[in-house]
Amino acid sequence: MLRSALLAASRSPRCRSVVERTSTMRPIVDRFVAGSTVDDAVRVAHELAGDRLVSLDRLGEDTLDRAQAEQTAEAYRALLARLDAEGLGAAAEVSVKLSALGQALPVDGEKIALESTRRICEAAAAAGTTVTVDMEDHTTTDSTLEIVRALRADFPDTGTVLQAYLKRTAADCADFAGPGSRIRLCKGAYDEPASVAYRGKSEVDGSYVRCLEVLMNGQGYPMVATHDPRLTGIAERLAARAGRARDRYEFQMLYGVRPQAQREIAGRGLRMRVYVPYGAEWYPYFMRRLGERPANLAFFLRALTHR
Ligand code: FDA
Repeated sequence: MLRSALLAASRSPRCRSVVERTSTMRPIVDRFVAGSTVDDAVRVAHELAGDRLVSLDRLGEDTLDRAQAEQTAEAYRALLARLDAEGLGAAAEVSVKLSALGQALPVDGEKIALESTRRICEAAAAAGTTVTVDMEDHTTTDSTLEIVRALRADFPDTGTVLQAYLKRTAADCADFAGPGSRIRLCKGAYDEPASVAYRGKSEVDGSYVRCLEVLMNGQGYPMVATHDPRLTGIAERLAARAGRARDRYEFQMLYGVRPQAQREIAGRGLRMRVYVPYGAEWYPYFMRRLGERPANLAFFLRALTHR
């Protein structure tokens, strides 16, 4: 219930304006977001790169403005040039949301998003790194996977996210378990109907394990994106059973979530990548994070009522 309410609020312009104007909110936002500028993102990437890998996400989504979509692509290209100049190409990749790159534009949206992401992939290749395409709500899954398939024809190391809460995902994992594929498996962060998604924790977790089995036994590179200690343990055991060396899969967690567990996993010589968002458009991302843990909501309400 609470999670659905927060996810509904993540799409409400009125809630957005209240939360963005609440100055006591900033410390909670800072826990999940690296800062508003490229300098902030690069500073955090350097800090983490001592023992972890990084995926940088320039915050923004759901644009219906073509010029803004093009600016987003250019901002990613500039970020990638900066990562290269800073010697971060081996440690840091980028994550992109196709809805920020024009996917939802009424005319030629998918074509525009494909071309913009292709330009980002070119810049990533020049910087010696990769791009992973985030997954948004289920109405975009087919379109996103089609764009990823097109990108992989020229940039085979382009990764994508699959969400275990969708009933279709075990089949998508099988489709994407071939050589060279990079799949980031997460539980899923949107409010999806029971017609397409598992809604209970045990069902979602069960699906996550089935998807992991497919990916670990496949020929691609699984990226295990969860903070759930039971699932990271299962992932490690499945990887060992499938004979995967430590550099043939990785764990991923979000900036600000279970940092101690991140360091512990990295300290055992396993690959751990941190997803680091930055930028001014933090509101929807932040609201999704609040919905994932009831304790976050308590901090949020305290900040809102003590303005
Ligand atoms: P679960 O929600 O069961 O949490 C397990 C434990 O982790 C909790 O008990 C708590 O201790 C801790 N935890 C989890 N979230 C927390 C939070 N926000 N604050 C504090 N503690 C928290 N989703 C999506 O739909 N599309 C996408 O593209 C992505 N991309 C993505 C990339 C990466 C690298 C990660 C790690 C996650 C995503 N997600 C995502 C989000 C994902 O779908 C999911 O909503 C969150 O990871 C929370 O699910 P967990 O697997 O962590 O399990």
